[in-house]
Amino acid sequence: MASDGTGDHRYALQPFAYRRLMDDDMSDLPGGNGIPWLPAGVAPVGLLEGLCTTRAIRRFRDDAIPDKDLATMCFAATRAPTGSNRQPFRLVVLRDGPQAAAAKALLGASFRRLWNHKRSADGYDRGTGAETTSPKARQARTMDHFVDHFEDTPVVVLACIRPWRGTDLTVGASVYPACQNLLLAARALGYGGVLTMWHGAVDRELHDLLAIPDDVIIAATVALGRPVGRHGTVRRRPIRELVFDGGWDQPAPWATEPEGTRHTGRPPARPT
Ligand SMILES: Cc1cc2nc3c(=O)[nH]c(=O)nc-3n(C[C@H](O)[C@H](O)[C@H](O)COP(=O)(O)O)c2cc1C
Repeated sequence: MASDGTGDHRYALQPFAYRRLMDDDMSDLPGGNGIPWLPAGVAPVGLLEGLCTTRAIRRFRDDAIPDKDLATMCFAATRAPTGSNRQPFRLVVLRDGPQAAAAKALLGASFRRLWNHKRSADGYDRGTGAETTSPKARQARTMDHFVDHFEDTPVVVLACIRPWRGTDLTVGASVYPACQNLLLAARALGYGGVLTMWHGAVDRELHDLLAIPDDVIIAATVALGRPVGRHGTVRRRPIRELVFDGGWDQPAPWATEPEGTRHTGRPPARPT
């Protein structure tokens, strides 16, 4: 970290892109430390760069995810920390079989219903949303595409947890790190994905269809595949709004961010 307070944040300044090396076959790149090798043509992404630049991906190519790559992603997910190393989560992977297709169809219907509700509740078609080139309208189109093609998502993972006490935040903390590991491993291998909660409306049906025990909670639905197109930089609230020093709302002057960091506006306002 540079002493001028700006820090060495080069990783965060690079535009996000799944870099595939067309001319350079990296398939013989050793992973080291027993980590599986990268697929051919995928350039390595540093850990910090991956952490700071991974976006939610909702547009996928039709390509299937090869077993080897899916195994690597799931391996990374299963290395995530859990309370007392209890490992109460399970990943139900939905690919191509008839049961997976039926589950994807249930999910697709639920996603469409819940997105359409959100679209209207959050006013995606109002204000700047009415201008087709606005970020809001673009986001709505991406969501439309995502839910309309949900059944074609190459891999859908239901991240499940059997809570061993209560269902408060601390229990969720033993499944969501695995989801993030899954998404970051996907990124590392040239894939992308998004964590969603839109399985809620068909939770019972999914339990029945997939024989998920009643005491197991479906904590998230993660969609995965090869991304279509390029994706902009990660935008979040400025670090000074999110990091305090010593007490609530106490500024943390040392918590700097790279020059040129892009920020989000406020989340969509709910009409009153
Ligand atoms: C707890 C949680 C719940 C989410 N639920 C949904 C969801 O139901 N549907 C969806 O499309 N995306 C969902 N997302 C993805 C977020 O919308 C996405 O991560 C966020 O907008 C940031 O996107 P970006 O990384 O591309 O900037 C969820 C993410 C998290 C962490």
